[in-house]
Amino acid sequence: MTPCGDTEGDENCIAAIEALFKAYGSLRYGEEVTQLEHALQCGFLAQESGAAPALILAAVLHDIGHMLHPDAAAAVAADQNDAHERLGAQALSKWFGRSVSEPVRLHVQAKRWLCLRHQDYWEQLSPQSKRTLELQGGAMTAPEADEFERLPYSREALQLRRWDDLAKRADHPTPSLSHYLGLARGLLQS
Ligand SMILES: [Fe+2]
Repeated sequence: MTPCGDTEGDENCIAAIEALFKAYGSLRYGEEVTQLEHALQCGFLAQESGAAPALILAAVLHDIGHMLHPDAAAAVAADQNDAHERLGAQALSKWFGRSVSEPVRLHVQAKRWLCLRHQDYWEQLSPQSKRTLELQGGAMTAPEADEFERLPYSREALQLRRWDDLAKRADHPTPSLSHYLGLARGLLQS
């Protein structure tokens, strides 16, 4: 990862994100969409909901950890529990504030929370999400859910999770990646 903090470093961060999508964006995300389409749809849903720029960017980059995995293609293809939310948040925290990295770090926990607190949530999950839920620990217990609710950015993570679940529509128009990279440029930490 490239350190940020000067103009050259900032451009390297943006270039690194762009390179990840170029290398892995065409991998499938479930049946209907690619990783890139999923990311852009998620960001667009956040944008349409009037989310703050940091949360829109978190939505676009929430699965970037899949692409940082040492064997990203195999991890995505095999639906592995690759701890992508931690890998992603760790990388993003070097470039952006916690308002970007924390919703990313918590978006898997948010799924586990929703499975406990909203009874109809599990039923509407895609087959792929149901499979990965088991690998991620299944629904939270009540004490885990209480603890989750007290975490900063848990509400944002829950919003992100809802967009994540919806961002799987074939041939859905969205802004381009460069639109969101422009947003990212404005949120880089110096
Ligand atoms: Fe996702």
